[in-house]
Amino acid sequence: MDKLKVVGPLNLKGSVTISKAKNAYLPLLAATILSDEKIVFGEVPKLRDIGTMNKLLEHLGCKVNPEGSGFSYQLSELATDEAPYELVKTMRASICVLGPMLGRFKKAKVSLPGGCAIGTRPIDLHLKNLEKMGATIVIEGGYVHASTDGLKGAHLVLDFPSVGATENLMMAASLAEGETIIDNAALEPEITDLGNFLISMGAEISGLDSKTIKVKGVKKLSGSHYTAIGDRIEAATYIIGALMTKSPLSIMGFDPGHLDSVLEKLVSMGANIERLENGVRVGVGELKAVDIETAPYPGFPTDVQAQMIALCTQAEGTSIITEQIFENRFMHVPELQRLGADITIKGNSAVVKGLAPLKGAPVMCTDLRASAALVLAAFCSEGETLIQRIYHLERGYEKIEEKFKNLGARIERVAE
Ligand code: EPZ
Repeated sequence: MDKLKVVGPLNLKGSVTISKAKNAYLPLLAATILSDEKIVFGEVPKLRDIGTMNKLLEHLGCKVNPEGSGFSYQLSELATDEAPYELVKTMRASICVLGPMLGRFKKAKVSLPGGCAIGTRPIDLHLKNLEKMGATIVIEGGYVHASTDGLKGAHLVLDFPSVGATENLMMAASLAEGETIIDNAALEPEITDLGNFLISMGAEISGLDSKTIKVKGVKKLSGSHYTAIGDRIEAATYIIGALMTKSPLSIMGFDPGHLDSVLEKLVSMGANIERLENGVRVGVGELKAVDIETAPYPGFPTDVQAQMIALCTQAEGTSIITEQIFENRFMHVPELQRLGADITIKGNSAVVKGLAPLKGAPVMCTDLRASAALVLAAFCSEGETLIQRIYHLERGYEKIEEKFKNLGARIERVAE
């Protein structure tokens, strides 16, 4: 397995363009199941997770072909109603094929995604609300067996603003009979992007960017051409990399309005960030400690928590970072401690004493965002850091070593 070798400490300079959002494209790809017409997506990032979703769609009978800067999709008829364990276990977002399959084909057999490194990741909110729409759901042999005579619109209230559940239910509702109301819907920008895509296919959706989304089912959805929003989490990762290495950087290709909570926290630490039309310019400055609690959008994103802990190792004072979304999302902490970071875990909080000197060492990736935190910390560590199991990184960061190398980082991919 490949590794990344970083020699720090280092500075960065120049400008980087962010790829389109993984967490927007994964549900968008699932939504191609809803139509028998051709759909074309542009600027699709070359990521492991996108490759997995493409494989799953092909398994279901979708014709997936490279087209322009992305792919075309056309599912004329279902080859099988089964989304198999070997594909779903590698990427739990595959559960998002459940709603569209029920909506269009009235049946689905989708492997339970299982947990992942950061938590048990249940899907109860997806299932109980699909049942409210008229699906019959049986869990057997590690699979969700779902069927319906035809989904009916319903008034759904999510116990928690789950991103995946909101996406699955929006897609299912777009072909259901009658109106579906999703209360306490997730507000993430990727939800709005999915809604806009579904509307471009002819869906009747209102209430996007609000906690109450209304979907009037239609008989059929047409093809479409669409490009997803920029990846706000990738952008946050590069912004934090600039701040940690005290490098003036421009990070372009995303809507800074999608990162309000992150930018506000960074500015409160003393960061100098100029918002631009399609990105930000980061200046150099000394950083002070900060307290953060992750929360559903528009709160501080859990997907930036690991990178934030890495940043706080470079800030003066003691920071407290509390993870409220996932139950086991601190696996980057022991690896950061191997580099010399002074971090103590207290319950679901990490207490970070800043400015402890970091020294390069071999470290291990455990999940996608933890891996990004290790790369950033390696930039501030004296000497060589060897980052292992980087397949985690490749799930969600397109060409990360190329992008950072173009910014002047001493980062090399080392084949095992
Ligand atoms: C999406 O996961 C993202 N993944 C995650 O990003 C992100 O961390 C998460 O939203 C929260 O923002 C994609 O978009 C592909 P949730 P998802 O359903 O949909 C609980 C990354 O690094 N829950 O909002 O799975 C769940 O256990 C990934 O890119 C239930 O209890 O997130 C968790 O505690 C990691 N029952 C919380 O809700 C359910 O039925 C948030 O989960 C569903 C969720």
